[in-house]
Amino acid sequence: MTDKQQIKQKVTAVFDLVASGYDHPSLRFFPSCADALIHFLRPQPGSKILDVATGTGAAAVAAARCIGPTGRVQAIDLAEDMIEEAIKNVDKMALANVDFHVMDAEQVEFKNNYFDAAMCAFGIFFLPDMDKALKNWLRVLKPGGQLAFTTFAGNAFQPMAELFRTRMEKFGIVFENSAWQRLDQQDDCRLLLENAGATDIRVVEKQMGYHLNTTDDWWAVLWNSGFRGYLEQLDAQQLADFRAQHLQEIAELLTDKGLWMDVDVIFAGGHKHYNN
Ligand SMILES: C[S@@+](CC[C@H](N)C(=O)[O-])C[C@H]1O[C@@H](n2cnc3c(N)ncnc32)[C@H](O)[C@@H]1O
Repeated sequence: MTDKQQIKQKVTAVFDLVASGYDHPSLRFFPSCADALIHFLRPQPGSKILDVATGTGAAAVAAARCIGPTGRVQAIDLAEDMIEEAIKNVDKMALANVDFHVMDAEQVEFKNNYFDAAMCAFGIFFLPDMDKALKNWLRVLKPGGQLAFTTFAGNAFQPMAELFRTRMEKFGIVFENSAWQRLDQQDDCRLLLENAGATDIRVVEKQMGYHLNTTDDWWAVLWNSGFRGYLEQLDAQQLADFRAQHLQEIAELLTDKGLWMDVDVIFAGGHKHYNN
């Protein structure tokens, strides 16, 4: 297995693990960012949309509602358990215009010039070759079609994420940068789109954060998201100790409004050239 395949396998395993808790209310920025991404894209009713790294389907659901029954969403992800949750969410909403596929975001298997829009919410930074992926997504877009993605910006989840990292290191866990830190600057998002050949590039940054009520809500964020990959490296006793120590330091950040969770998000998008 190549290094890239190993990375993908590791990422997929973490998301399979968190799938059943991923729609936790503490992580409600995912559905609200999905709505904002659709607002950014403004797809027409009847559009064909590709949702890359759909997870539990937040953006697919938002798109399916917007494009109506004459439109259709093809939603892909590598984590089968995330897709299972996404299917449940789509069924709950009685939406009949979304199809799900277990598929690698770097190798989308759709026809050239097929979709009106392609989007990827908080998935692009997990891909070993983001440049190749974007080119692939542009390939399946119709000329003039739209592409958009979201990523977290510099201060997202701070100062909690840094406290988490420092404490993890005290437990002997080697902490790599969080995946999104590969792409947490507006200029890098713009450059990525330019290099892939997109045109009419737009990049905006928005604060999508909110107050969590308790330190347990912060724990729910860690337990049900990509942070879980680090927690899994601790044995049961270490995990209990880590939780107690980390939440104690997080408690110092509580105010009368609760615990502020910064979710600074970059929305970046562009179009496929008409002459491609
Ligand atoms: C943070 S979640 C985002 C899910 C969803 N788009 C949302 O906004 O809630 C990242 C998702 O990317 C998926 N993913 C990571 N690498 C992938 C790849 N190479 N191909 C397809 N999906 C991938 C994960 O399985 C996970 O479901």
